[in-house]
Amino acid sequence: MIEGLKDKVAIVTGGGHGIGKTYCLGFGRAGASVVTADIDGPAAEAVASQVAKETGAKSLGLSVDVADEESTKAMAAATIERFGRIDILVNNAAIFATIPMNRGGIETIDPKEWDRLMAVNLKGLFFCSRAVLPAMRARKSGKIINISSSTVFSGSAGRIHYVTSKAGVIGFTRTLAREAGEDNIQVNAIAPGSTLSEENPTEDILRFRRLQVQGRALRRVQMPQDLVGAVLFLASGLSDFMTGQTLSVDGGAAMR
Ligand SMILES: NC(=O)c1ccc[n+]([C@@H]2O[C@H](COP(=O)([O-])OP(=O)(O)OC[C@H]3O[C@@H](n4cnc5c(N)ncnc54)[C@H](O)[C@@H]3O)[C@@H](O)[C@H]2O)c1
Repeated sequence: MIEGLKDKVAIVTGGGHGIGKTYCLGFGRAGASVVTADIDGPAAEAVASQVAKETGAKSLGLSVDVADEESTKAMAAATIERFGRIDILVNNAAIFATIPMNRGGIETIDPKEWDRLMAVNLKGLFFCSRAVLPAMRARKSGKIINISSSTVFSGSAGRIHYVTSKAGVIGFTRTLAREAGEDNIQVNAIAPGSTLSEENPTEDILRFRRLQVQGRALRRVQMPQDLVGAVLFLASGLSDFMTGQTLSVDGGAAMR
């Protein structure tokens, strides 16, 4: 277990399902208090109950739309009201598996879908980070971890809006790192490889995930648990002199 997270307060957006849920449980096991924020409110509450039951951590589930600034302000206010501070924000919510996106070529993407995807995957980081920064700046301490994707390094045909949004996450991370550094706030990103995050994967999905193994140095399917160590590291004091960086956690698919 990574030490130094005991009694820290962590918000995980998109924590109601998939990889975000695994981050919530990881923070709980590390002794942090966990806020699970998700547009799927019942799922957020279910994960919060699971975190409390399985790890004994203090937890809170919130219904939050990261693309709505008022909703993200309410998320920060509810966290401070319940726990008194915000130490860590994991910007994980995205249109990915739970909210289906068009996986066709550029000609088939509806501009409205492009806009909604950018609103969640990019503007969501902007709103959530702005919502928590005042509390972090006041304490001269904080960790913001943004979830990008390894698709940024290789391209991934059939979801140009998604990959473009995840490339934006890296520029956002570098710039916010420069802006927030003066208040001792570290901002880093993680680029996960193709991860079996689906709760009820179909045969097609399983086949797709297995296919990704071929391009990796480590020859197995990536699971949500494979990402938890990197998130806890970037949330902990072990990474206090690291900021503006993107860690690839993909079994050695992209080597940069
Ligand atoms: N699974 C992969 O292969 C993979 C690879 C690289 C990066 N990622 C990234 O990792 C993160 C998690 O991926 P996942 O596979 O667990 O996806 P997922 O679709 O299972 O989970 C995304 C979560 O975000 C929530 N969400 C969606 N829109 C929201 C909104 N407007 N406000 C609040 N919550 C919202 C969903 O309800 C869901 O709980 C995403 O940022 C994704 O882009 C995933």
